Amino acid sequence: MRTIAIAITGASGAIYATRTMAALLERECHLELVISDYGRRLLRDELGDGAAVDRLTEFLVAKYGERVKKGSHTLYSNKDLGARIASGSQNCEGMVVVPCSMKTLAGIAHGLSRNLIERAADVMLKERRTLIIVPRETPMSLPQLKNMTLCAEAGAMIMPAMPAFYQMPKTLDDLADFMAGKILGALGFAHDLYPSWEG
Ligand SMILES: Cc1cc2nc3c(=O)[nH]c(=O)nc-3n(C[C@H](O)[C@H](O)[C@H](O)COP(=O)(O)O)c2cc1C
Repeated sequence: MRTIAIAITGASGAIYATRTMAALLERECHLELVISDYGRRLLRDELGDGAAVDRLTEFLVAKYGERVKKGSHTLYSNKDLGARIASGSQNCEGMVVVPCSMKTLAGIAHGLSRNLIERAADVMLKERRTLIIVPRETPMSLPQLKNMTLCAEAGAMIMPAMPAFYQMPKTLDDLADFMAGKILGALGFAHDLYPSWEG
């Protein structure tokens, strides 16, 4: 069983988070889950009240199917700086911040560790583990662009929420599948979330 941390913050694109969670749960992963206050709000604003944090498991089963029950997750408070993933001595092999707000991006870029999301990301960088950041904003200011550069220089993978259209998406779920597929690929999972490019 692989253990991956998932952080959901208050940028638009909550569906990228739920699709990524479901795809990892289907693959029998254990997810260490942290959701910021605005991440909680965006889940409800964009996916409906059914995606409220206390109903998230039921939402994932209803939207993505029973197979998500193959995995498990533990939800931590973003205020809990004593949680397992706040320490480098835990077994969490990688972390995905999806979607990542510009505020959280700034906090990670500058090593602020003001909350569990920023601290867990900091741990991934200092331990040289996989950190995938999925930022979403447009247009971007120079500080935001520089913060992405800082994170990339520190070893994070910057994977902007930029779904492609060459796979001929028909639905919003197709777009979410594309981003989740990119994330799974970067974590080393085989997947068929979108058709591979045949040239
Ligand atoms: C409806 C809504 C959409 C938002 N979309 C974005 C966004 O796409 N990108 C972003 O950086 N911030 C966005 N924000 C602002 C962040 O939620 C805000 O900066 C917040 O403080 C982020 O905190 P967090 O990183 O702790 O979740 C949005 C806020 C709201 C209410």
